[in-house]
Amino acid sequence: MKNQWLLIFSFALIMSCTTTKTARFAKDKTLLTAIDQNFKDAVEQYKFLAKNLPADKFPKTYFPKTDTYEFSNSEWWCSGFYPGSLIYLYEHTKDPFLQTEAERILKVLEKEKNNTTTHDLGFMMFCSFGNAKDLLKSANPMDYKSILLQSAKSLSTRFAPSVGCIKSWDSRNPKDFLVIIDNMMNLELLFWATRVSGDSSFYKIAVTHANTTMKHHFRPDFSSYHVINYDKETGGVQQKKTAQGYADGSAWARGQAWGLYGYTVMFRETHDKQYLEQAHNIARFLLNHPNLPADKIPFWDFNAPDIPNALRDASAASITASALLELATYSDAKMASNYFKTAETMLKSLSNPTYKAAFEKNGGFLIQHGVGHIPQKTEVDVPLTYGDYYYLEAMRRYKNLPNR
Ligand code: GLY
Repeated sequence: MKNQWLLIFSFALIMSCTTTKTARFAKDKTLLTAIDQNFKDAVEQYKFLAKNLPADKFPKTYFPKTDTYEFSNSEWWCSGFYPGSLIYLYEHTKDPFLQTEAERILKVLEKEKNNTTTHDLGFMMFCSFGNAKDLLKSANPMDYKSILLQSAKSLSTRFAPSVGCIKSWDSRNPKDFLVIIDNMMNLELLFWATRVSGDSSFYKIAVTHANTTMKHHFRPDFSSYHVINYDKETGGVQQKKTAQGYADGSAWARGQAWGLYGYTVMFRETHDKQYLEQAHNIARFLLNHPNLPADKIPFWDFNAPDIPNALRDASAASITASALLELATYSDAKMASNYFKTAETMLKSLSNPTYKAAFEKNGGFLIQHGVGHIPQKTEVDVPLTYGDYYYLEAMRRYKNLPNR
């Protein structure tokens, strides 16, 4: 069995070397100039944020009305985004402060490699240590490879063959096995782990999780449920519901973004066309939706009852823009142009003062108006650390696209 998966993995690797298209893009010079300025401004913002950060804590959000922060410990699902953002900024500017601060906070984060109580290790460890291994050239680097491999092993302990998924949340009912669409974002770490270790079990878990999710999380229009509650023993679906969206049957904006990004990565890592098709289908749902505003910053839920007065979720726009810019590179000319132009509009909107915070405002976070968890009434209309991270990533991807 192990050999069979190694064969599939090797085939995918060969295909990735032979089928990559070289789409070219007519980039907007004004936006490129704005992106350079955005990176410079972001460095100053993050220096301000870093000054306000207690030792051993991670930035979570900030409440403008009361001028107060919420920080977290390293085990919180978003702890990788601050170091990841510092590293993107370091890559762009080579400012030594960013390197020192990234190395400091990575040391605080390292212990999470052994955390088996969360499905979010991909977010936590791959956005941080994954970026560090590629972009942070330290004099005395930490052993990024072994930290990431240990993280992949910890994440894999949550996989249940009876369900075909990695468990997201624990439930009080022992029969329940809860999986959220967000979990698609944690699979990239597993593909990397198979590549460097030769152990195909990580690859197999990622593919199985993605296949099970594709089967049960999506509706006929390719919008997705947030949470599927599987029967832990049989793998049967017990419930399809939401936690952070407006309703069980609604399209929570960030969930749609996680799915789009997740299946785009699945295609990158496997070159299996069914994942590309899935990503295109999700993109079609999002981009053609009558409730997507002209500035392309989604309402927090595509079915929020108070649209057009509903809150926007800028974080969903950052994630979607980043995903579309990658998906465009795997697409034919017509689709590529649609994805590219939509992402461009998103980046322009995020870079204007409605969303991009002024210096020393917004607690030092870059992007305003994110929505964390409306049903729980937490993190409503605030900056979010992942909104910043994927905004930086999307701008980086835009810059790096090949010019026409
Ligand atoms: N549950 C992760 C998120 O809020 O997107």
